[in-house]
Amino acid sequence: MHLARFARIRLAHLPTPLEPLPRLSEELGLDLWIKRDDCTGLAGGGNKTRKLEFLLGAAFEQDADTLVTQGAVQSNHVRQTAAAAAAHGLACEIILEERTGSKATDYVGNGNVLLDRLFGATLRTVPGGTDMVAELEKTAAEVRARGGKPYVIPGGGSNPVGALGYVDCAREIVVQADEMDLEVHRIVTATGSAGTHAGLVAGLAVMGADIPVLGIGVRAPKDRQEANVFKLAEETAALLGQPGRVTREMVVADCDYVGEGYGLIDQGVIDALTLAARLDGIVLDPVYSGKAMKGLIALARAGQFKGETLVFLHTGGAQGLFGYQTEIEGAL
Ligand SMILES: Cc1ncc(COP(=O)(O)O)c(C=O)c1O
Repeated sequence: MHLARFARIRLAHLPTPLEPLPRLSEELGLDLWIKRDDCTGLAGGGNKTRKLEFLLGAAFEQDADTLVTQGAVQSNHVRQTAAAAAAHGLACEIILEERTGSKATDYVGNGNVLLDRLFGATLRTVPGGTDMVAELEKTAAEVRARGGKPYVIPGGGSNPVGALGYVDCAREIVVQADEMDLEVHRIVTATGSAGTHAGLVAGLAVMGADIPVLGIGVRAPKDRQEANVFKLAEETAALLGQPGRVTREMVVADCDYVGEGYGLIDQGVIDALTLAARLDGIVLDPVYSGKAMKGLIALARAGQFKGETLVFLHTGGAQGLFGYQTEIEGAL
């Protein structure tokens, strides 16, 4: 594994800290650590910074002048892509899917959406259920028709190039843990468009680190999520020149904590947000890291992680909290 072989634009503040969560550990009866990828920088940080380093590298290799991507209305990926485009003098064309159906003022105008606009991205909104791959192609064709050079980034930045960012994160976690003599039994992360989970699995597999990763699903059912992650992890390992290193058993997702659906929050998520905030001063997000923490808390309380040292990957997203003021405030 030699990541310097890939084009990369440095955007992130790395390495992000690997820190203990003393009060949550005590509350849950395990040794819980947090990998602070909410502190990657770029528009407030989050997991997309690492992916965008490699995606922008590829975009510049192709002489692109416009980034084209898509996401849900309160997408963190869109916010960070818009910031990366602004910082590198690229235009940014965004398609937002009304995936949750929410028309609340804060959901459609505050949080990530406010920041997308601040970064000068061009936003277009389409109804939930729209074929977003076709929309990306349509927008790219429009950019080409007016003489521009689009670089299309899939939703969540999840393709083998983007997943290299989490190959690098896997390497970083192992190096940090080794420096601290910390034996890590498991890494827990939110898993959505699959790039974060797949990159971690591929990176750990290629290193031979033998640390299991548990993805807590935020959208798809378990079968589909694991299949998506496995496919992308295999492709990522192949891109690294190590095909066949990822096995199906390495990919584990628990999708029992999605609740009513993607981007819809419930009392379990609010309890996870408040517990992390009030015990260790950590701000999670309502759609991804909060849902992952909801799952981690439930599994820990059911005795799933007895005696383990666990690393929770904080993938960021706190900016999305401001799109959910009504739901959260009403439940505090
Ligand atoms: C804050 C946050 N956490 C986690 C995820 C999930 O990561 P992935 O899409 O790579 O599975 C996302 C994806 O948008 C995110 O914005």
